[in-house]
Amino acid sequence: MIDLLIRQVNLPCGRRNVDIAIHEGRILEVGPNIKAEAHQVLSHPGCLVTPPFVDSHFHMDSTLSVGQPRLNDSGTLLEGISVWNELKPDLTVEAIKKRAIELCHWSIARGTLAIRSHVDVCDDRLLAVQALLEVRKEMQAFIDLQLVAFPQDGYYRSATGKQNLLRALDMGVDVVGGIPHFERTRASGDRSVTALCELAADRGLRVDMHCDENDDPLSQHIETLAYETHRLGMQGRVTGSHLTSMHSMDNFHASKLLPLIREAGVHVVANPLINITLQGRQDNYPKRRGMTRVKEMLNAGINVAFGHDCVMDPWYSMGSHDMLEVAHMGLHVGHMTGVDEMRQAFSAVTYNGAHALGLEGYGLNPGDNADLVILQASTPIDALRLRAARLEVIRRGKVLARTSASLPQLLITPAPTPVSFSRDLM
Ligand code: FE2
Repeated sequence: MIDLLIRQVNLPCGRRNVDIAIHEGRILEVGPNIKAEAHQVLSHPGCLVTPPFVDSHFHMDSTLSVGQPRLNDSGTLLEGISVWNELKPDLTVEAIKKRAIELCHWSIARGTLAIRSHVDVCDDRLLAVQALLEVRKEMQAFIDLQLVAFPQDGYYRSATGKQNLLRALDMGVDVVGGIPHFERTRASGDRSVTALCELAADRGLRVDMHCDENDDPLSQHIETLAYETHRLGMQGRVTGSHLTSMHSMDNFHASKLLPLIREAGVHVVANPLINITLQGRQDNYPKRRGMTRVKEMLNAGINVAFGHDCVMDPWYSMGSHDMLEVAHMGLHVGHMTGVDEMRQAFSAVTYNGAHALGLEGYGLNPGDNADLVILQASTPIDALRLRAARLEVIRRGKVLARTSASLPQLLITPAPTPVSFSRDLM
């Protein structure tokens, strides 16, 4: 007798009408017509099962704080940083935890079971670090949280950024962060990349930097990040987040950088909702989109994931932490409407994110963790098009969240059949 059997579902790889057998928190078997007795059977014929969504870039310390102490009137990145700095003195561990746990509940309900969150270490009290370490522990049965020590005000530029980052790592934060384009000079930005990569290499940690998050084509710290990753033998353990300057960069220089990023195995995280709203703000017309060169990176063999970045905080008042919304926006901003490109957009919020975070046991093969989401859609493209309902969210074989299928009924005569919006793209 196994724990759970899921009947007649489709998989992102294109397999159709398969069953999934689950026992003791792991996937036991995937195939047609599995003959097994199960304690629980879930039947969603023709629906897509995917491994959980992964948010590769988020800020859990500031989430759900919108309006505190005031709204961001201009909606710009720099005013967002000012509002956050006004809020920081009034932060408490309890308030940060309450907001972060509520966000985790939103995430789980929408099928996201892994989040990498940056945590600002430029408040000497490190309240946000303490709060999010406690949230990571309290929520670990339900969601994987990775924390990044993020010197929001600059590793060198902030008076205590360097020592606070070390303190945060000593407290148990997982990943080394940085913000080289915000240091005082390009040279000190590059020096921060070198110092932070060396620190991570010494401690055996991963790196994830906010890197070149601006519209300045001369902001090129990604070059140093790829170089240091290669020099220190950290291939596959380093992520460049945002890289929006590459949108505006000279095409020849971009064509030099892509193979270097690929060679260093640096993962890239784009944040489509935030990049499209915060970049290009000083442009007249035409206005740049600002998101990095996602298509070109994928074609160059670089692992690209999408992050949500912000939900209802000083930088972004919108959002409900829905990674299908993120992928939907990424697809549009990146001109990714080719059939394979749409599938890649789905991978950017699932497999590619898991790869960037180094998650173990992620996938739909026998032996993988029984973490999966059943969607009210038949294929990944259909799921993106509809931002499909997450019918069941399952972690280690247990259902954590459930949403009823949405089936609108037209009230016109003669009465039509119930409306299903789901359609396969051939
Ligand atoms: Fe960010």
